[in-house]
Amino acid sequence: MSMSFKNRDVITINDFTKVDLLHLINIAKSIKENPQPTLLKGKILASCFFEPSTRTRLSFEAAMHRLGGAVIGFSDSKMTSVNKGENLHDTMKMVDQYSDIVVLRHPLEGSAQLAADVLQIPLINAGDGANQHPTQTFVDLFTIQETQGRLENLHIAIAGDLKHGRTVHSLAQALVSFNSRLYFISSPSLEMPKTICDELREKGIKFSFHTSLEEIIHKLDIIYMTRVQEERFIHKSDYDNVKNSLIIKPSLIENAKENLKILHPLPRVKEIDKRVDATPFAYYFQQAGNGIYVRQALLALMLGTLR
Ligand code: CP
Repeated sequence: MSMSFKNRDVITINDFTKVDLLHLINIAKSIKENPQPTLLKGKILASCFFEPSTRTRLSFEAAMHRLGGAVIGFSDSKMTSVNKGENLHDTMKMVDQYSDIVVLRHPLEGSAQLAADVLQIPLINAGDGANQHPTQTFVDLFTIQETQGRLENLHIAIAGDLKHGRTVHSLAQALVSFNSRLYFISSPSLEMPKTICDELREKGIKFSFHTSLEEIIHKLDIIYMTRVQEERFIHKSDYDNVKNSLIIKPSLIENAKENLKILHPLPRVKEIDKRVDATPFAYYFQQAGNGIYVRQALLALMLGTLR
């Protein structure tokens, strides 16, 4: 069952059905093939980033410009009245009156729902702490479909910091709709949270835990690599113990299937050796490029200029 995207908030990936996800992917594909430079003329996006970002912020802002809309906002909350003590509630009360749609990134888990409860206009969660990053998952699904020609029944390894990585939480939940076989690769201290594993088990998704990619590389269609999220560790020594525990090197992919693609939400630190970039398996920069089409599709659907 599909719900219209118009005026909906985007808070967690579980709010979207398989039909919704496929519809969004199809619209993004049509925008990639046929640009729509006036679709959001006269509309204003508020881009509110309380945490650093390169891809999510710039691709949302570029998406709005590419559709003929305008952008207001901030990428450093120290330059706003938050620095004088204003809270998220009151900040959202203001952008509600100045714009048509809000994109919010904030370090607190649950902040996206809190903001959506204040706003009359629709909100897009661009990452709330270690919780969710649903629009990254839209981009990931679009890219998996683009590289494999399908989303169903793929063997997908999700690797790196599965404890703190919000992109991997959203992605694992979304892949339930496509009957993926999942392989979780991490240090024991960075495993996928139990709540998400329980949800996958309940929904009949097959998954297994591993500490290295070598033993399963020959089965994989996708490796979704992630960085160890230094900013989520309380003790630096805990980060130092795991920061280099998993690195994709050219020798690993010698035994890969021809169709394997390596994805990464980026930024990369050291977890993918730069020599991998030149191989046909690397697709992470194209994946980041797809963000602009997927986010154009999402903005147009939420603002009701496409259905
Ligand atoms: N993938 C992603 O969220 O990247 P940024 O942190 O640069 O936005």
